[in-house]
Amino acid sequence: MKKNIMFLFCFLGLPIMNSALTTPISLKIILGSTRHGRSSDKIGKVIQDAISSREDIVTEIIDLRDYHLSFIDDAISPSSRKSITDPSIQKWSDTISHADAFIIVLPVYNMGYPGVLKNALDLLYKEWNNKPVAFVSYSGGTTGGTTVITQLKEVALELKMIPITTSISIPQTWKAFDRAGSLIYPNFKTDLDRMVDQLITAHK
Ligand SMILES: Cc1cc2nc3c(=O)[nH]c(=O)nc-3n(C[C@H](O)[C@H](O)[C@H](O)COP(=O)(O)O)c2cc1C
Repeated sequence: MKKNIMFLFCFLGLPIMNSALTTPISLKIILGSTRHGRSSDKIGKVIQDAISSREDIVTEIIDLRDYHLSFIDDAISPSSRKSITDPSIQKWSDTISHADAFIIVLPVYNMGYPGVLKNALDLLYKEWNNKPVAFVSYSGGTTGGTTVITQLKEVALELKMIPITTSISIPQTWKAFDRAGSLIYPNFKTDLDRMVDQLITAHK
């Protein structure tokens, strides 16, 4: 498609401007926790605000609370099914199908990732395939959740996603924001931009 447009530009003798040919990728920021009083919504918003000025992406926050997904109970595995009958899962499938790449925001729950997030991942298969994914974890303790990112990368690989190497882990969430609601994390935007650059490269 891009080659065809470039050919047309050359044929018409028009100067090729790179920005005119670059379509922004659809980057979905998935909130990995759903409990009342959670931190994932605040961290998701900080992420979205920090990269809002980029012209190479269009971001959207995906809140699992909006999907009312039931625990997986279909007799046919999502990797084998031909159609979806549950309207909630269809809505979830449509959202993920329209994404090019993901940032998953996830807390540590008992040394693992939240079950609600795993269920949302398990409910789909082909919708995740071949799409780059990055992780921003956080925890009540001092680790920031590096272990849960390692765990979730294994899951992502099984879903044939492309987990990128750069990730961000925020320790001690309960004191990670200042009085003004700003995240206290040195070089957050720099790290985030590097992460998004990698997602875009992996998408090409
Ligand atoms: C059920 C549960 C289990 C948790 N287990 C851990 C843990 O193993 N290690 C840790 O550092 N923090 C743990 N925490 C603290 C959370 O990582 C921290 O409070 C985080 O902000 C919770 O994410 P949320 O606010 O988005 O739900 C746990 C919190 C909950 C609710």
